[in-house]
Amino acid sequence: FRTLRWAWRLGYLSAIAGVAYIGYGIYEDRHPEPQTEPDPTKKTLVILGTGWGSVSLLKRLDTENYNVIVISPRNYFLFTPLLPSCTTGTIEHRSIMEPIRTILRSKKASVRFYEAEASSIDPDRKVVRIFDNSEVKGDMTETEVPYDMLVVGVGAENATFGIPGVREHSCFLKEIGDAQRIRKRIMDCVETAAFKDQSPEEIDRLMHMVVVGGGPTGVEFAGELQDFFEEDIKKLVPEISDRFRVTLIEALPNVLPSFSKQLIEYTESTFKEEKINIHTKTMVKKVTDKQVEAVATRPDGSKETIVFPYGLLVWATGNAVRPVVQDLMQRIPAQKNSRRGLAVNEYLVVQGARDIWAVGDCAVAGYAPTAQVASQEGNFLARLFNNMARTEALEGKIAELSGSLNLQPGNTAEISREIEEYERQLRRIKDVKPFHYSHQGSLAYIGSEKAVADVTWFNGNVAAAGGLTYLFWRSAYISMCFSTRNRLLVINDWLKSKLFGRDLSRE
Ligand code: FAD
Ligand code: NAI
Repeated sequence: FRTLRWAWRLGYLSAIAGVAYIGYGIYEDRHPEPQTEPDPTKKTLVILGTGWGSVSLLKRLDTENYNVIVISPRNYFLFTPLLPSCTTGTIEHRSIMEPIRTILRSKKASVRFYEAEASSIDPDRKVVRIFDNSEVKGDMTETEVPYDMLVVGVGAENATFGIPGVREHSCFLKEIGDAQRIRKRIMDCVETAAFKDQSPEEIDRLMHMVVVGGGPTGVEFAGELQDFFEEDIKKLVPEISDRFRVTLIEALPNVLPSFSKQLIEYTESTFKEEKINIHTKTMVKKVTDKQVEAVATRPDGSKETIVFPYGLLVWATGNAVRPVVQDLMQRIPAQKNSRRGLAVNEYLVVQGARDIWAVGDCAVAGYAPTAQVASQEGNFLARLFNNMARTEALEGKIAELSGSLNLQPGNTAEISREIEEYERQLRRIKDVKPFHYSHQGSLAYIGSEKAVADVTWFNGNVAAAGGLTYLFWRSAYISMCFSTRNRLLVINDWLKSKLFGRDLSRE
């Protein structure tokens, strides 16, 4: 009983400490300290983008060391792993957005932010050309920003491989706007299918949701869509419920190619139970406003053309290089053989360029284009830049002390000791190891409250799948959310959709 009493007290005290810690964090965010102004004697560090790479860098960067300027057409950070849940309203979109102004306001030195898109980078003149692509425009819509150091973290755009009709007729799933468009379109298809005297063929087409690309984006979206239908649409719009179908089309022999074999099999069998049709070895060739044309390879190697009429088409076939990155690659001769983005060295320096670094999906460092990689790269650059600034400061101090050795002969021993100490510190921080990616594992939600996980555990790999993995998926993503505010909002959304169902309003 004594032990129990102590355990209870300890739990009670930790709960109070936890609440106090969170409360203090919220208070600090709401009452930020005054920030120091930009210092013209310091170098200008320009950061492009407000995604995983750039924001991880910003979070850990000692902004007092540089005049930092952030440029992005998006004035918020987006927690992409929960984006598929926004397409069905399981999570509301604002719950996974964090305003960049809040992030910048928590820094010690003021950081400028320009909501703009970088259209080109001139590595010779060291300037970035930017333009305002928002709806409201002032007299000034285009200008140049000079830099001493530049970090390119602009991510990637959607790959369409030039397939006719894809851009015009598909929904993508990369940004908040994409998720909102999909949510609206699902409900539009349902309500149009339920329209008076709609023909059976048209109901079948409208209720057919086609997903192209069996990577994690396509798989997670298909799972979310099936949940939405089973848990809400079926109950609220029963008259068309037996016509709802989800089809996933993948060019390779299986979905989730980056996961282990047993998880691929588990995902495919779960999809079968969920009645999600998977067409593997099927390559989409053409898209029109009402149908998708694909070529399937049969087991005997022969080809067959299949036509899929659809109401909603979601295109998730991976990444392509953004125009601003393509333009920069063309200006740097050393980048001429790079196809998938800016080739960087082990310190994330853009090869063949001076004072330009790249992080995340726009950089080719030999890793998969994931949030995990981008955030570790951003953290690495923050350490590197903090060290560079401290190195410069220490070198300045050493030069100053060395100069004063002759002027203060009486203090020689003391000054030499100080110099030695600075030199020791300098050796330690100058020894920055190259970037090394540490893979923590891959997780994906596959619908019906099941998830798959390939997790690194004590230097080995553990593959797990099912309901418990789903709980792990949820807790992992909750802990990874950007802020306490995001965490509370996401938990609230999960509870809300479980208790009251998802919101079927189309707006
Ligand atoms: P992004 O996060 O895409 O950010 C790019 C930034 O650059 C944005 O702010 C954008 O507005 C800005 N930008 C674009 N063009 C310009 C320009 N011309 N000038 C200036 N700024 C510009 N990865 C995981 O590891 N785990 C997951 O569970 C996971 N889930 C995902 C789910 C979905 C639906 C998607 C689409 C991706 C997911 N990913 C996941 C991948 C992950 O989101 C990306 O790898 C990651 O976002 C890459 O980070 P980034 O900083 O390079 O780019
Ligand atoms: P992806 O590149 O992982 O998968 C795209 C798939 O589309 C490929 O399997 C490809 O074979 C297929 N494809 C291409 N063209 C096709 C065509 N014409 N017809 C049919 N299929 C075609 O892309 P995705 O899923 O968008 O992911 C992008 C990145 O983001 C990846 O690195 C991924 O790991 C990461 N991500 C990770 C998540 C997670 O860990 N849970 C979730 C979402 C994305």
